[in-house]
Amino acid sequence: MVMPVSAAAIPALAIEHLAFRWRRRDAFCLTLEQLTLAAGESLFLEGPSGSGKSTLLNLIGGAIRPERGSIRLLGEDIGQLAARRRDAFRADHLGFIFQQFNLIPYLSALDNALLSCRFSSRRAARAAHGANSPEHEARRLFAVLDLSPELPGRQAAELSVGEQQRVAAVRALLGRPEILIADEPTSALDADRQSRFVETLLGEAQKAASAVIFVSHDATLGERFDRRLKLDSGESEKTGGASAS
Ligand SMILES: Nc1ncnc2c1ncn2[C@@H]1O[C@H](COP(=O)(O)OP(=O)(O)OP(=O)(O)O)[C@@H](O)[C@H]1O
Ligand SMILES: [Mg+2]
Repeated sequence: MVMPVSAAAIPALAIEHLAFRWRRRDAFCLTLEQLTLAAGESLFLEGPSGSGKSTLLNLIGGAIRPERGSIRLLGEDIGQLAARRRDAFRADHLGFIFQQFNLIPYLSALDNALLSCRFSSRRAARAAHGANSPEHEARRLFAVLDLSPELPGRQAAELSVGEQQRVAAVRALLGRPEILIADEPTSALDADRQSRFVETLLGEAQKAASAVIFVSHDATLGERFDRRLKLDSGESEKTGGASAS
């Protein structure tokens, strides 16, 4: 992507007049009038099960398109990009920790982590910057996330859920993407590990100036974030509206 001269002033994320339904005439409708996140800013996204948190992350990630409104990532309207440009943009600028982690079971933890660099030479170059190679940087992140030195060589299928979650975090952080999205990455962890994980993730994101959007049902984690956004269950109006703070 060609970055304009004033790139620093462009928000990492800018959402306007968003509306989305999975199907026409669907009772569930996600609406969000306005949301802006600056580079390096962190947002805690909360709301009851079914309120549309994962749906909103999928919209931000460009996996689905809004029915109305726009979602701009680094100034690019992700919903308007053609499929190939959208895939390339995602690989270059987005780190995603999925609710189910999405690791490839037969690959090692290290190879899973390095996938983010395989699809983007920009990410690979950024991961190598300051380290000798993307692999060195991945191993540094494994250590920072409290994983033993032999773990990167083990198959993903053999790992505990908590270990898989941290491998997914290494993959998302590798190459310092401008936007980091995490969908309930801590649900399998005990309270102590959960707290340390969030601390480390936010610390690494801050160093990389990545904007963070983090979903969790544990409201106490929300205090660590710059901003909070709560999606309503919308049971009365059947809309997953939002209120920000
Ligand atoms: N692929 C899909 N096709 C149709 N409807 C969907 C799809 N994915 C989610 N939905 C519906 O959209 C609504 C919001 O779901 P979503 O997964 O975004 O909620 P959530 O807030 O992430 O919930 P949870 O906290 O349980 O993860 C729900 O009513 C759900 O049934
Ligand atoms: Mg969800």
